[in-house]
Amino acid sequence: MTLTEAACDVLQTADPDEKVRRTYEYAKHWDEGQITEIGNHLPPDTPARPVRPQLLSPKSMPRRRLGSEAGRIALIHAIAHIELNAIDLAWDIIARFTHEDLPKAFFDDWVKVAYDEAVHFELLNDRLKDFDSHYGEHPAHNGLWDAAFETRHDLMARCALVPMLLEPRGLDTTPATVVKLRRMGDDKTADIMERIGHEEIAHVAAGTRYFNLLAEQRQLDPITTYHTLVRKHYKGNLKAPFNEEARSQAGLSTYYYKPLSNESQT
Ligand SMILES: [Fe+2]
Ligand SMILES: [Fe+2]
Repeated sequence: MTLTEAACDVLQTADPDEKVRRTYEYAKHWDEGQITEIGNHLPPDTPARPVRPQLLSPKSMPRRRLGSEAGRIALIHAIAHIELNAIDLAWDIIARFTHEDLPKAFFDDWVKVAYDEAVHFELLNDRLKDFDSHYGEHPAHNGLWDAAFETRHDLMARCALVPMLLEPRGLDTTPATVVKLRRMGDDKTADIMERIGHEEIAHVAAGTRYFNLLAEQRQLDPITTYHTLVRKHYKGNLKAPFNEEARSQAGLSTYYYKPLSNESQT
C-alpha cells in the first residue's frame, strides 16, 4: 500500500470511529516504515460522511450558549465536527499535491497532523459520551469542506486558506473558551481544549513552512502572495483580536494577517 492509497482509504471511510482507527493504523505504518512509497492515488472531491450528523448551512445552525450544559455539549459537538473534517483535510493535502516538488518531511508532517486530529476527535467524542451524547447527535456545519474544495487546484492556495487562515482562528478563540469552561467548573473539557489549542500551533507552523517553501520555489513574495490568494478565495475580513503569541510561535507574523483584518479597514 502507498501513502496516497492509505489517504484515499481514510477519505472514503464514512464512519468516524473507523476513520480514526484507520488514521492511527496508517500513521503507524508510515512511521514504522511499512508504508514507504507516496504513490499517486487521487483523493475524492469530497470525503465520505456518516448519515448523522445532519449537515446544515451556517445560517440554519442553532445558536449555542456556553452557559448551560446543553450549550457545552453543542460546543463540544461543533468542535468534534471540525476535528473530523481536519482528519480528512490532512489526508487530502497528502494525496492531492504529489505533483509538487515536496520533501519527505512534508508527508511526515501531515501524517502527524492527521494523527493529532484523530486524537482530538476521539477526545471530544469521548467527552460527549460523558454527557450521554455522541458525535452525530446534533446538526453540524455543512461549509467546512468549502475552503478545501475551493483550493483543490493549488497547494499554495490550500495552505493559505486552511492551515494559515482557518486553523489560526482556533488559536484565537481557544484561550477564551478554556477560561469560560474553567469558570463553569468543567476542567475536563477545558483540559482537552487547552491540549488541542497547543497542538494546533504545529499544524499552522507546517502550513506556513510549506507555503513559504513553495513561494521560494516559484520565486514569489510570500506575504503579498498570501494576501492575493486569501482575497481571491476567501470572502470577508479576518476577525481581530488575534492570538499573536501563538500565531508567531507558528511562524505566522502579523504581516500576513493584520492587513486582512477588520481592524485594518480605515
Ligand atoms: Fe485539531
Ligand atoms: Fe489542526
